[in-house]
Amino acid sequence: MGGRTTIRDVAAEAGVSVTAVSLVLNNRPSRVSEERRRIILETAERLHYVPNQVARTLVTQRSMMLALVVPDIQNLFFAALAKRVEDECRQAGYSLIIANNSDSRAAESDIMRRLSARGVDGIFLIAAGESCVDVDDLRSDVAECRCPVLFVDRLVDLDWIDGVGINNRAGGRMAAQFLLECGHRRIACISGDIRVGNAYERREGFIQALCDADGITPVIVAEGDYRFEGGYDAADSVLDSDATAVFCCNDLMAMGLMRRMHERGMNVPDDMSVIGYDGIAERFGFDNPLTTVGQKIGWLAHETVKLMLERIEQDKESEPRHVILPPELIRRGTVRII
Ligand code: RIB
Repeated sequence: MGGRTTIRDVAAEAGVSVTAVSLVLNNRPSRVSEERRRIILETAERLHYVPNQVARTLVTQRSMMLALVVPDIQNLFFAALAKRVEDECRQAGYSLIIANNSDSRAAESDIMRRLSARGVDGIFLIAAGESCVDVDDLRSDVAECRCPVLFVDRLVDLDWIDGVGINNRAGGRMAAQFLLECGHRRIACISGDIRVGNAYERREGFIQALCDADGITPVIVAEGDYRFEGGYDAADSVLDSDATAVFCCNDLMAMGLMRRMHERGMNVPDDMSVIGYDGIAERFGFDNPLTTVGQKIGWLAHETVKLMLERIEQDKESEPRHVILPPELIRRGTVRII
């Protein structure tokens, strides 16, 4: 038999009607006997029958395809999140397309238009850095999408759209309070690009926590970009200061800083204590695993997909919903007590 097996092939082979096959394979209520049901399922498997999704979409108006747009596909945080989101989508019967906007507003706009035109049922969007500045442009792209759009992780002013993320101010506070508990008072910070909402919130949470503790101010606040090179390039300004500890607002920048420390013959944590953010560094197998603020990626992915499915399958019109999860402190070996 040439070509792909059709529903008619399955019906003919099983000796039943096409309608019976459709009802059984779509798990719809029917008067098909258990024996005939078994024969249909066995025949479909034996003939390697795969439903024609295009035809199915015409009937159900659903592609069973979702999309996740990330700002930096080389960053393991997004890779780890994408894996968990894909797991959750598959369990719900959906496939996932993953796209990369490279923190570019223009690329993000083009990707959203293409995904909507392909008929995806929903888009999980981690906003590009540039979009966090120009929300109106992003907002009009969302309005033009023919499917629900849900903000993940980077929650740009949320009153108009669904969003799921971590409490970033609490994460910044958590990093500061842990360093203070370990006796540090001369503390530096390398932030992400503060145009990105969560970078600004982490930095502000960190600064506020220091201020609340006897009016302490950071020794230096350098601005990075959430990339390895950003941490590496900002490192000397921190390492040349009299800080004893530094909060890097994501793990990649912490790794960049530690690379520079290694080049300068400096020891972590003896010469500088380091705390990161994300909880992905253990995947790199460092000798001295990074103390960090974890983002509970599995929980984040679960709540993200759950909210999207509620939006798609239950109600499309109700008020925007927001889920904000707490961060978690992951104590390892890069912060010393002084
Ligand atoms: O590491 C990349 C950062 O950007 C993460 O902290 C994540 O929150 C994303 O927004």
